Amino acid sequence: MRIIDLEKTDRERIFQVAEILNVSFHGHCPDYDDMKDALQKVAESFDDHQLSRIAVDDEGKVLGWIGGIRMYNGNVWEIDPLVVKKNTQGRGIGKALIEDFEEHMVRHGAHTIWLGTDDEDGRTNLGECDLYPDVLSKAKNIEDRGGHPFKFYQRMGFEIVGVLPDANGFGKPDIYMAKRVKSAAAV
Ligand SMILES: CC(C)(COP(=O)(O)OP(=O)(O)OC[C@H]1O[C@@H](n2cnc3c(N)ncnc32)[C@H](O)[C@@H]1OP(=O)(O)O)[C@@H](O)C(=O)NCCC(=O)NCCS
Repeated sequence: MRIIDLEKTDRERIFQVAEILNVSFHGHCPDYDDMKDALQKVAESFDDHQLSRIAVDDEGKVLGWIGGIRMYNGNVWEIDPLVVKKNTQGRGIGKALIEDFEEHMVRHGAHTIWLGTDDEDGRTNLGECDLYPDVLSKAKNIEDRGGHPFKFYQRMGFEIVGVLPDANGFGKPDIYMAKRVKSAAAV
């Protein structure tokens, strides 16, 4: 496996990325259930101030995708999205994409990487309930109920820095996670 830029002209791999979005998020997030929306998401990753990297196998087929959005004058980058092909999840591809992203952030001089990871289907104890009052103490006591990706990000060194209640409808929060870029920590 290797990790390369997703090129704007690479129509075949753009379609493969959109298919991965469509299949891997199905059942957890409806945003890419329509292939047109998935393709639009990939197209947006070619805007200025964005990073778009793909993991490919020995034959050049796409295994996963990570997108990055520059914010706060480049001090902060958002990961949006990160996705690995369903039948190749759990083999270190997500981890490799995060590590590659972090290497780019060091070169860009970024301080912080962050992301929002939604809970739209009650896969944590923050979903399917009212988070008010005292949202932050509930966020502190987050528990996984069925393979929610916040655990993956914790494994990658991210920590929860906030929760937006009802971001995707009542009882469907967005969980905000962040990590300091290593080079910034050393300054
Ligand atoms: C979340 C996702 C990107 C992780 O990628 P992956 O390739 O499956 O993960 P990796 O194999 O690289 O896992 C790296 C480590 O995290 C752990 N991990 C991965 N997913 C995990 C989960 N849901 N819960 C707990 N640990 C998890 C692995 O066990 C591994 O641990 P190790 O370092 O001790 O071996 C992938 O499962 C995916 O695309 N899911 C669907 C889309 C999605 O939810 N994207 C994130 C939206 S914010």
